[in-house]
Amino acid sequence: MTDHPRLPSPQGLAGNTTLDPAATGNTTVPQLVVLIGPAGAGKSTYAAARYQPHQVYSLDQLRAVVADDDCDQDATTDARAILAAILEARLSRRLVTVVDATNAGVADRAWLLALAGRHQVPATAVVFTTPLRVCLARQANRPGPAPGRRWGRAVQAAAVVEQHVRTQAALATLTAEGFTHVTEIDTHADVL
Ligand SMILES: Nc1ncnc2c1ncn2[C@@H]1O[C@H](COP(=O)(O)OP(=O)(O)OP(=O)(O)O)[C@@H](O)[C@H]1O
Ligand SMILES: [Mg+2]
Repeated sequence: MTDHPRLPSPQGLAGNTTLDPAATGNTTVPQLVVLIGPAGAGKSTYAAARYQPHQVYSLDQLRAVVADDDCDQDATTDARAILAAILEARLSRRLVTVVDATNAGVADRAWLLALAGRHQVPATAVVFTTPLRVCLARQANRPGPAPGRRWGRAVQAAAVVEQHVRTQAALATLTAEGFTHVTEIDTHADVL
């Protein structure tokens, strides 16, 4: 893991990559934690190991809420609307909140930064730099579409490649975008 404490870091957020629950990240200092990384990079695993379930919101989970299918990309707009409502409610209370999504594009992050700014809560970024080959290999362990469904958990290789490229590019812009702290995580050598 590489840490970039460009501004004073939120106390305790900079942790290690162990999945020991005793070494969880800071779950008390108010902040919006934005995970950034391609499919299979380890975002959800990281969040589940460090935060309480009610602190973590993923588009996958909210697609399931609105469409009974966490993979249904057509449900993304509705899922994002619910995410926005949840973030408004939680950040108005200054609660630590983690957004677990690919968040690879500037526009994906801009509305999150704006929302955090409106509530005067710092936004911090956790960037998953897990190698592309590892992200791709992890797709092989995931199911394809269920019968009658268009999408499965396995993400197409071309999409993973694009997400990986955009994640690498993000590293150069996150501080300028407004993130107060950037942490890099590479999960390829971890053992669950
Ligand atoms: N720290 C880790 N060490 C070893 N293997 C890991 C680690 N994190 C994740 N993995 C493996 O990678 C798989 C994908 O991880 P995870 O579901 O957390 O990725 P993700 O970034 O949330 O992907 P998606 O964007 O598709 O939801 C896990 O099922 C697990 O097998
Ligand atoms: Mg995930």
